[in-house]
Amino acid sequence: MQKNTIEQLSIQSHTKLQGNVHISGSKNASLPIIAACLLAKTPSRLYNIPRLLDTTSMLEALSSLACNIRIHEDHSISIDPTQCTGEALNKNVAKKLRGSFLILGPLLARYQKAQIPLPGGCNIGARPVDIHLTGLRKMGAYIEVHGGVVHASTQGKLKGAEITLDVASVTGTENLIMAASLAEGKTIIHNAAKEPEIVNLCDFINLMGGKIRGAGESTIEIEGVEDLTGKTFNIIYDRLEAGTYMIAAAITQGNIKIHNIHPEHLSAVIDKLKETGAIITVDKQTLSICMPKKPKAVSISTAIYPGFPTDLQAQWLALNCIADGPACVQENIFEHRFMHAIQFQKMGANLTIEGNRVISAGNDKLIGTDIIASDIRASAGLILAGLAACGTTHISNLHHVDRGYVHLEENFCNLGATIKRRTHTLEVVSQE
Ligand code: EPU
Repeated sequence: MQKNTIEQLSIQSHTKLQGNVHISGSKNASLPIIAACLLAKTPSRLYNIPRLLDTTSMLEALSSLACNIRIHEDHSISIDPTQCTGEALNKNVAKKLRGSFLILGPLLARYQKAQIPLPGGCNIGARPVDIHLTGLRKMGAYIEVHGGVVHASTQGKLKGAEITLDVASVTGTENLIMAASLAEGKTIIHNAAKEPEIVNLCDFINLMGGKIRGAGESTIEIEGVEDLTGKTFNIIYDRLEAGTYMIAAAITQGNIKIHNIHPEHLSAVIDKLKETGAIITVDKQTLSICMPKKPKAVSISTAIYPGFPTDLQAQWLALNCIADGPACVQENIFEHRFMHAIQFQKMGANLTIEGNRVISAGNDKLIGTDIIASDIRASAGLILAGLAACGTTHISNLHHVDRGYVHLEENFCNLGATIKRRTHTLEVVSQE
């Protein structure tokens, strides 16, 4: 008989979260910044990279391209690109995360050639890469896609160009900024994404000697430079991890203090949480949140930054399920990001899914059951629902949690929750 093991998180019935939690470095800032190390002629040293499956996979991708990676005792990471020759990126490495596609811009700019497999990552929609490719073609790249691999090359350096993005794609903007940093002449990106992770990337490139203006605005200008020099740099804190703990405090009627947070990156979420009845105070990089009574359900509609982030939509829907009154969650970024809603229904939530909207009746009594995580943020939504449910919730497909959340069980246990990771052995009976 064959045996399979599965890992599950078991979350016991609800406790009001209390205490302190420290936020890690931002995953979505780390991924492009790790890729940007390829642009430099000398090594860089990065602080505050979160220890996650996704950052590990990204470092593995650079290592497979002959970059020398060292992890220091103080947890900082050195990336030495001097031996990199711009080889093709391996498919098995690329399919682990969508962020691997961020290697395309730097490789093409630095080595005039790149072979990058179409990316993997979360199953939340079609997630095409046309914006990345169209922009690079405008900069003079010759690109063909065959066998699931993007083959890109240029005759000499990439050339600065004026590019208007059809959609303000986050990684699309990042790929083009990195490519333009070493291009000949000026690139102007219109309708650029404005996320804080993009600003952090531009700060790193500028520190290395780049000339980028307008990061965080919808038009970004990049004057290409001859070369860039590796530097020591600090990654910003993760606004999505912080937002997840804020909503966790609200859903459990808790009272917690979140350290290492950039409150200015979470204005839309703070405003919405205040509407639910949460009391929020901010002191520099610490945010306290207390939910003194049952939260009021509040409708949200996801939008590009500085709007309400799609990456906190699943967590918000969990909150609306148990909150007082009906509300609507509208998803405007990805077309297929409500897999968690079906899991909430399994827990007893009264939800109506209509295209890109989910209407919650509110005042649901969620009951713990076996549920499955479908992407990083859905996994966070399920955990929050488990914290608010009666009985025990078992969540499987935990690699999604490990892709995006550092020390998740430890952090929640420190806040008073009862969460344990268990490995089960299943006996698989073969059918003849
Ligand atoms: N889009 C296109 N063409 C493209 C690129 C994007 O049509 O070439 C569309 C997408 O299909 C989507 C929209 O544009 O409908 C926005 O996608 P975007 O490109 O901005 O997303 P992304 O860059 O692939 C990043 C984050 C995601 C986050 C989104 C939106 C990273 C590594 N990933 O993805 O993070 O949800 O921006 O904010 O930065 C996560 O951390 O769990 C996560 C999924």
